[in-house]
Amino acid sequence: MNRREFVKGSLALAGAAAFFNVGCAKESADGKETSKEGTRKMDKKCMVIYYSWSGNTRFAAETIAKKAGAALFEIKAETPYNSDFNKCCDEAKPECYGKKLRPIKPIEGLDLAKYDLVFVGSPNWWGTMAPPVRTWVT
Ligand SMILES: Cc1cc2nc3c(=O)[nH]c(=O)nc-3n(C[C@H](O)[C@H](O)[C@H](O)COP(=O)(O)O)c2cc1C
Repeated sequence: MNRREFVKGSLALAGAAAFFNVGCAKESADGKETSKEGTRKMDKKCMVIYYSWSGNTRFAAETIAKKAGAALFEIKAETPYNSDFNKCCDEAKPECYGKKLRPIKPIEGLDLAKYDLVFVGSPNWWGTMAPPVRTWVT
């Protein structure tokens, strides 16, 4: 991963985290809600959900989840894109341009009702989100 790729993939997630300066509520062992020190306390229960093809968005999502004390979930395509960049582009380009949905695997343990704030992470594919992310938000 080079710096440029990382910045592209993580811009949305990092920007959102910086904008909100999130100190998400976290349950401690005694059941009381706590938040990360040094951040503005929001008493929000937060989660980060992301899709990543080559790992950059995963890195950004993990970093944000750790700093914000948020739960972390990964979106996985039912049929993964080819691991070869050019073949992946061939598969993904018509989906992105056509705003198509790519089927995704069920996300285990996710109960959206438990969260007040959701960060969604996606690589930038032709100026839009990767289709598995479109499927999830749809
Ligand atoms: C299929 C595909 C399409 C891409 N399209 C764009 C694009 O249109 N513009 C751009 O700046 N980067 C584009 N990229 C680069 C990715 O956004 C960038 O490498 C990102 O960090 C990858 O995130 P990931 O490692 O989480 O998959 C594309 C990458 C792939 C694999």
